[in-house]
Amino acid sequence: MTNGPQLVLFCGLPGTLKTYLSRRVSEGIGSTYLTTQAAGVLAAGLEAGELQALRYARYERISRIVFALIDMGAQVVVDGGFLSSASRALVFADNDKNRCVVVYCHCHDEEIRRRRLKIRALDFGDPEATSAQSILANGEVETTVEDPISIDLAQGRVSSVLSVDTVSYTAQWHGQPPAPLADSLKSLVETVLAQHATIPLPKRYESQVRSAFDDLASTYEDSTPWRNDPILIKQLQVDLPDKGCRVLDIGTGTGLATAWYAEQGHQVVGIDPSPVMLSRAAKRLTLSVLGAAPPLPFLSDYFELVIARQSLHYSEPSLLIKEAARVLKSGGQFVVSCTVSESDDARGFWRDYKWATQPLRLEVFSEESLGRLLQEADFKLEKRLRYQLKRVETIESLSRRVVAPHNGWPSFLKWVIRLSESEAPLARMTFDGAQLAYTQHWCTIQARKISS
Ligand SMILES: C[S@@+](CC[C@H](N)C(=O)[O-])C[C@H]1O[C@@H](n2cnc3c(N)ncnc32)[C@H](O)[C@@H]1O
Repeated sequence: MTNGPQLVLFCGLPGTLKTYLSRRVSEGIGSTYLTTQAAGVLAAGLEAGELQALRYARYERISRIVFALIDMGAQVVVDGGFLSSASRALVFADNDKNRCVVVYCHCHDEEIRRRRLKIRALDFGDPEATSAQSILANGEVETTVEDPISIDLAQGRVSSVLSVDTVSYTAQWHGQPPAPLADSLKSLVETVLAQHATIPLPKRYESQVRSAFDDLASTYEDSTPWRNDPILIKQLQVDLPDKGCRVLDIGTGTGLATAWYAEQGHQVVGIDPSPVMLSRAAKRLTLSVLGAAPPLPFLSDYFELVIARQSLHYSEPSLLIKEAARVLKSGGQFVVSCTVSESDDARGFWRDYKWATQPLRLEVFSEESLGRLLQEADFKLEKRLRYQLKRVETIESLSRRVVAPHNGWPSFLKWVIRLSESEAPLARMTFDGAQLAYTQHWCTIQARKISS
């Protein structure tokens, strides 16, 4: 039998990476992996009290399975929410506390947590996708967890808790971690976290984005006015020190945003996951690279200018912005241009609207939130340019993206209009029975990598 803890129990709210981590940690230590679902499915349509009783019965069942396995010489990783300390206590039962370790996954940034859930919901084929879809669809994104450090550890039910911060990607022990597994557990968790930081998007999500843009490529430039709008394109044009500078266009699409730089004699590299979009960019730019960012497959301190127009929201923006900082030379410029909600307050409205009508979009920025992300990556904000455009969406264009809501597009859009009057009045949304029209707000931020 192995020395040290034999039960590693992962707990945390949905979207805190506990399933991602627990699966890989279990593989890493060669343990048996159990999820709470494995010990019985909860029946629907029950009263709260009955549901609680069923849930508790399930935790007791998990406990019996876990300790039977441990008695046979196994180590067991259990993955579940275990949001209440009572649920965890049912699993530990009367066992020696040195046999049990809690890994507590948390994420203090609600935006990141919800985005992770959204990516998972879109990751069709992942067994977790359905649970993420129902969490989001029911609006039941739980927000509270009884802290295992101040409760389970303080009350002596476990001897140690590994606290995993999935925003800063760090892990820290609390209590007395028993050797030897406990020593290696922290470094294993940190290794898996570091991998997650560089591969944030599931391949299945990427392939949906790729095929959506492959399908759109032939009509891309003419289907919406912003794409060729001369004022928006001009806002991307900054002075560069010489001829022949290196420019990177993230999510280049057909190369529209940076064609001007190539015409000026600069070396423009475009990266994009859609080969059909990229084949058009290849006619405009110096080099076209097929791939999804992050990571950016380029050397550090390489480019004089990085541009990203309307592409950050298909990715993990904070990671992508940090990658942009890495590939830029010191003093190099980063120009980000995208649609924004008119204010921080209106972001919730736009998130819900975009989630309903454009599910592949992962984020809605406001001017403030975009600025914050750039500053967090040590960019100095030099200029903010604002622009407004009239945007029209037809029922036909919406239907190409998503299935119609159960109450039909007209009722849904009338409801959207009513909501917009209080939540996003500056959008001035209208619906004439066939077309939804609103003012689209754009923000272009020109920033500079601070010299190190
Ligand atoms: C709305 S288009 C913008 C294209 C171009 N920047 C422009 O201004 O016309 C978004 C582009 O981002 C690309 N994209 C999506 N996910 C990406 C990712 N993870 N990394 C790089 N590009 C991505 C899409 O394939 C698409 O071509």
